[in-house]
Amino acid sequence: MPKLKIEGGNLLTGTINISGAKNSAVALLPAALLCRTKSKIYKVPKIRDIEYLLKILEVLNCSYKIQGDELEINTSNLTNAPIPENLSEQMRASYYFMGTLLGRFKHVEISFPGGCNIGARPIDLHIKGFEALGATVTKIKNKYIIDAKELVGTRIYMDFASVGATINIMLASTYAKGETIIENAAREPEIVNVASFLISMGCKITGAGTSTIIIEGNNLLDNGVTEVFPDRIEAATYVILGALTGENLHIKGLIKDHINSVLIKLKDIGANFEVKENEIIISKCKKILPTKLITQVYPGFPTDAQQPFTVLLTQADGVSTITENIYESRFVSAGLLRLMGAKTEAEGNVLTVTGKTELTGAQDIEVPDLRGGAALVLAALIAKGTTTLTNIELILRGYEDIVEKLTKVGAKIKVIE
Ligand code: EPZ
Repeated sequence: MPKLKIEGGNLLTGTINISGAKNSAVALLPAALLCRTKSKIYKVPKIRDIEYLLKILEVLNCSYKIQGDELEINTSNLTNAPIPENLSEQMRASYYFMGTLLGRFKHVEISFPGGCNIGARPIDLHIKGFEALGATVTKIKNKYIIDAKELVGTRIYMDFASVGATINIMLASTYAKGETIIENAAREPEIVNVASFLISMGCKITGAGTSTIIIEGNNLLDNGVTEVFPDRIEAATYVILGALTGENLHIKGLIKDHINSVLIKLKDIGANFEVKENEIIISKCKKILPTKLITQVYPGFPTDAQQPFTVLLTQADGVSTITENIYESRFVSAGLLRLMGAKTEAEGNVLTVTGKTELTGAQDIEVPDLRGGAALVLAALIAKGTTTLTNIELILRGYEDIVEKLTKVGAKIKVIE
């Protein structure tokens, strides 16, 4: 199995260009099925999750063409079929085929989606939304069968502002009769990205990015076109890396407003950086102050940036706490940092980090999940000596060209067999 081998201690300088957002792209590809004939999506990141989604599109008799950063999807011969488990179990985002196939065909067969082991991650809010629109959902072992005679727009209140459920209900309601109102909707940029795609194919949607989204059903959707937003979590990860070991490190092609909460926290801990329209220039923070970090739904501090930020707090002079409000077990990587000399202690959904601790390279640390893997890469880049990471597929699935991007700015990182 391939491993990542990383030599720590280098200052990183130069430019890292941000790719299209994984968490937008994995919703946009299933959304393309709402188009009668074809659609175009620009700046899709070349990551493993996208490869699996393209395989699922082929199973549904769709074809696609990639030219440069343009992905054209042809849905003229779209045929409904059960989503094969060996594909749907590869990532959680396969659940977006529920919303689109329910919308298009009023029938879906899919096995329970996969995804990082950072908590139970039920999909009850998705199901509740589908049922509110008039669908019946049957679960046989880990397979969902969803049927509807017709879908009728309605008012849906989200018990929790779930990103996935908000998007999935938006997708299904595009083909419902009449108006659907989603209340307490998630406000993450991914929602706006998907909504702009649906609007481009002829759907009337207002309120995306706010807590109330209104969708007017319309079953003549076609010719969608959109661009994947820059990945805000990739951007946050590399800005945090700059605070750890940058020397005028340029993180380019980001949307600064999408990582505002992360930039505010970086200021809180004493980091200095220059903010331009779509670029952050940051250097190693000489003295890192401890802080209290609390993850929230957007626009609060993003849970996906919590694990990389933890590495920064191992270098703070004092005791920090991290309260994880979104997932129930997202501190596994914080425990693994102890193998490198960090002092972390998890108690329920609160992690205590005592700094400053010098980190030392460790061998064969198994990556537990995508963002935990990114955190371990950051830790290895500032640790003394060499670190090797295993199970690195989990990192490569969500960070486009991470080895190439880091090597380009002076990191000593490579994949070894
Ligand atoms: C999306 O997951 C992202 N994944 C996650 O990123 C991200 O952490 C999360 O949104 C929050 O921003 C994708 O977009 C593919 P949620 P999602 O529904 O949609 C509970 C990464 O590293 N919940 O907002 O699954 C759930 O258990 C990944 O890129 C229910 O209880 O997030 C969790 O505790 C990790 N019932 C919380 O809500 C439901 O029906 C957040 O889930 C749905 C969710």
